[in-house]
Amino acid sequence: MKHSCSISHKSTKSCQVLVLVSLILILPSKWFICKGDFRHVARSIFLSRFRPLGITEEDEEVKLPPKDCDLFTGNWVFDNITHPLYKENECKFLSEQVTCIRNGRQDSLYQNWRWQPRDCSLPKFKPRLLLEKLRGKRLMFVGDSLNRNQWESMVCLLQSVISSGKKSHKKSGSLVIFSIEEYNTTVEFFWAPFLVESNSDNPWSHSIKDRIIMPESIKNRGDDWKGVDYLIFNTYIWWMNTRYMKVLRGSFDADPIEYDEIERPIAYGRVLKTWAKWIEENVDSKLTSVYFMSMSPLHIKSLDWNNPDGIKCAKETLPVMSMPTPPNVGTDHRLFLIVANVTQSMKVPVYFLNITNLSEYRKDAHTSVYTTRQGQLLTPEQQADPATYADCIHWCLPGLPDTWNELLYTHIISHS
Ligand SMILES: *[C@@H]1O[C@H](CO)[C@@H](O)[C@H](O)[C@H]1NC(C)=O
Ligand SMILES: *[C@@H]1O[C@H](CO)[C@@H](O)[C@H](O)[C@H]1NC(C)=O
Ligand SMILES: *[C@@H]1O[C@H](CO)[C@@H](O)[C@H](O)[C@H]1NC(C)=O
Ligand SMILES: *[C@@H]1O[C@H](CO)[C@@H](O)[C@H](O)[C@H]1NC(C)=O
Ligand SMILES: *[C@@H]1O[C@H](CO)[C@@H](O)[C@H](O)[C@H]1NC(C)=O
Repeated sequence: MKHSCSISHKSTKSCQVLVLVSLILILPSKWFICKGDFRHVARSIFLSRFRPLGITEEDEEVKLPPKDCDLFTGNWVFDNITHPLYKENECKFLSEQVTCIRNGRQDSLYQNWRWQPRDCSLPKFKPRLLLEKLRGKRLMFVGDSLNRNQWESMVCLLQSVISSGKKSHKKSGSLVIFSIEEYNTTVEFFWAPFLVESNSDNPWSHSIKDRIIMPESIKNRGDDWKGVDYLIFNTYIWWMNTRYMKVLRGSFDADPIEYDEIERPIAYGRVLKTWAKWIEENVDSKLTSVYFMSMSPLHIKSLDWNNPDGIKCAKETLPVMSMPTPPNVGTDHRLFLIVANVTQSMKVPVYFLNITNLSEYRKDAHTSVYTTRQGQLLTPEQQADPATYADCIHWCLPGLPDTWNELLYTHIISHS
């Protein structure tokens, strides 16, 4: 339906006729056979003809929350009218890692939760409004696979209003670039799991047993990040394997490579200090907006939310509902405090997206066994063994990372 109406030349003819008729007669849109998609076509044709009026379809009815509203304190509300914001099978850019339904997941309620801040509401997500803000600009996620998860979500949130042929994916070194031609916009992901230089920086091959970092070094002086209009950073999951971090002594060219083992928060603090220094020296806050995502939590032990019959996150179909505060799922809050502290004390303003607590409720939203492992879909035998194979780190899409992007969206449209 979507494509037949908005993309292929052959089938758009009849639609265009209808559009013109509709513009002349100003019929209520519900009369159209092509429904929602049809309205997009009608609007975009309308807009391209009449843009000098300065009207965009998104001008109406965007209600921004008050500037001082705490968006991160609130609760999850079941809302299958407005959520999900897109359909899994309508976003061909999703990787196999996150398409849980296609990979065999039977329940889908995890897609229907809306984040409701306590004292205000999030504005409706309008892809064209965000695209207007991003016109001629670059937005880049920098970090680990959770940031890639969020990048995939952002691509899907935006791509629905772009006709095929006007959007494309490209890999280039550590970067994956999604380009939106009509808006001259790119939405990019840069693989840097520790933000600083490490032996795990190869975006396609980083299954390395001993992960070793260089806390005082940003790879290539961060050349790839310079001049980007919106930078969204994170780093967490790769810190969680071991209590101590391996910190390089000397160079990666040495044989054998030598390293010290340093307590996780100490090493994390050194990394954040290096990162903050890079931001202060390389970012012009008049041109670039900087964001830092707080950590994305894991749900590994079902006893954390009082389910003795659970297997990791594998059998969970609902968020944690019965607890007034998020369950303690083992998040390393020491790292949270370091980021909160560092980002608050910088000259370049950094918007800290405090998504940890709200995500801690979402034991239902992980990819579990409906995902890939080392690039391959899990086999039926592996799927039958969630104790070994369930991924309770990453998230299905549509799903929780869409909410993170709704929060990011709220900030972008409120501050430009
Ligand atoms: C993060 O949000 C939680 C509620 O979700 C709140 O309790 C906490 O104070 C916030 N922390 C920061 C640093 O903003
Ligand atoms: C939404 O949820 C309600 C209550 O569970 C259900 O009755 C209804 O069929 C659902 N609608 C859709 C479109 O899934
Ligand atoms: C497209 O955007 C880039 C920045 O991302 C800018 O350098 C370039 O001039 C823009 N091109 C057009 C045609 O607007
Ligand atoms: C958010 O998480 C932190 C750490 O668990 C906790 O101290 C704080 O109370 C939480 N905030 C809320 C509102 O539950
Ligand atoms: C917070 O940051 C300041 C300045 O960067 C530092 O002096 C202080 O020790 C930090 N506090 C914590 C709890 O990390």
